[in-house]
Amino acid sequence: MSTLSIQGVSKRFSSETIAVDRVSLDVADGELVCLLGPSGSGKSTLLRMVGGFEDPTSGRIAIDGQDVTHLPPERRPTGMVFQSHALWSHMNVFNNLAFGLKLRRRPKVEIRDRVEAVLDLVGLKGYDRRMTNQLSGGQQQRVALARALILEPKILLLDEPFASLDQHLRERLREEVRDIQLRLKITTLFVTHGQDEALSMADRIVVMHDGRTEQADRPDVIYRDPQTPFVAGFIGTMNFIKGHVENGRFRHADLSVALAVSDGPVTLAVRPEALDLVAPDDRSRVVIHRVTDFGTHGLIDLHLSDGTRVKSMVPSPEPFQAGQAVGLAPRSFAAFRNDAKLSGIHHAR
Ligand SMILES: Nc1ncnc2c1ncn2[C@@H]1O[C@H](COP(=O)(O)OP(=O)(O)OP(=O)(O)O)[C@@H](O)[C@H]1O
Ligand SMILES: [Mg+2]
Repeated sequence: MSTLSIQGVSKRFSSETIAVDRVSLDVADGELVCLLGPSGSGKSTLLRMVGGFEDPTSGRIAIDGQDVTHLPPERRPTGMVFQSHALWSHMNVFNNLAFGLKLRRRPKVEIRDRVEAVLDLVGLKGYDRRMTNQLSGGQQQRVALARALILEPKILLLDEPFASLDQHLRERLREEVRDIQLRLKITTLFVTHGQDEALSMADRIVVMHDGRTEQADRPDVIYRDPQTPFVAGFIGTMNFIKGHVENGRFRHADLSVALAVSDGPVTLAVRPEALDLVAPDDRSRVVIHRVTDFGTHGLIDLHLSDGTRVKSMVPSPEPFQAGQAVGLAPRSFAAFRNDAKLSGIHHAR
């Protein structure tokens, strides 16, 4: 049973650089939370503060209710895999893994057994005598993971552990890590800027932007009900269509849809799979720019009359061709005004 509590934590590196800005986050026992955000949004800094490799400027970090805010890494019950993995290349796999246990003066037999068990766990049984520079990138990442796990941390911290690997291997390893994490029921904070990684692995996603958390929710909620335009645009493909609401209707030169909010400018955020194409009316000036057949579905690139480009996902691209005029019918969408969400998800009728 282990929980992590981050309360109002900030990190200021200089007067201009606030890497992490008053972040609060509770991670439940056994939960895997992904920190997702663009480069420089503060993900690594936050993780490093939890691991004790960076000292917070303010705020408090607790593990199982115990304040660890200013404890050095070796006195925290955390295990970390770093963004640029740092295996000791002059040591073999066994010694890389045994290092932490030797420091803790564990008996030889126990060390041997634990190294063997953790190598088995990460799928590297029998690799203990290999030098780490004779391993593939994927194998090295597995050793880095094993080294974080061998001390049986209460909290596992992973900073983009697969960033340097090709996509195929990355997908396989993230499934393996998720399996291991579920089997050990280990509370985990996982940094990534790969949205697929976050959507497929996480119990909860925290979207970070400029050192702040924009939204923390289940992956499906993050995808279907983004609370800010940033989250809407950052996860998956999103169409943004700018228009005006007047008398309960959103109006744009190329489409109009019921929207019960006060009059004023509004931006609709519509997923490609929620943007239907219909027969054009006389005034429709939406033109198909490109049709792409992905086999499982089609993707239609469209140019609106105001220059906006949008995408529509269709079950089959067959009825469509470039140059054709079409009408737009959003099935569901979020509506924003000045970065604020106007209300819940709208389903157009
Ligand atoms: N040791 C440091 N000294 C000064 N500034 C730093 C230091 N470490 C990080 N920063 C700055 O803090 C901000 C957040 O950096 P951080 O490494 O946490 O981002 P990140 O979200 O992990 O990005 P990436 O996805 O590229 O790894 C950046 O502007 C970065 O330049
Ligand atoms: Mg980073």
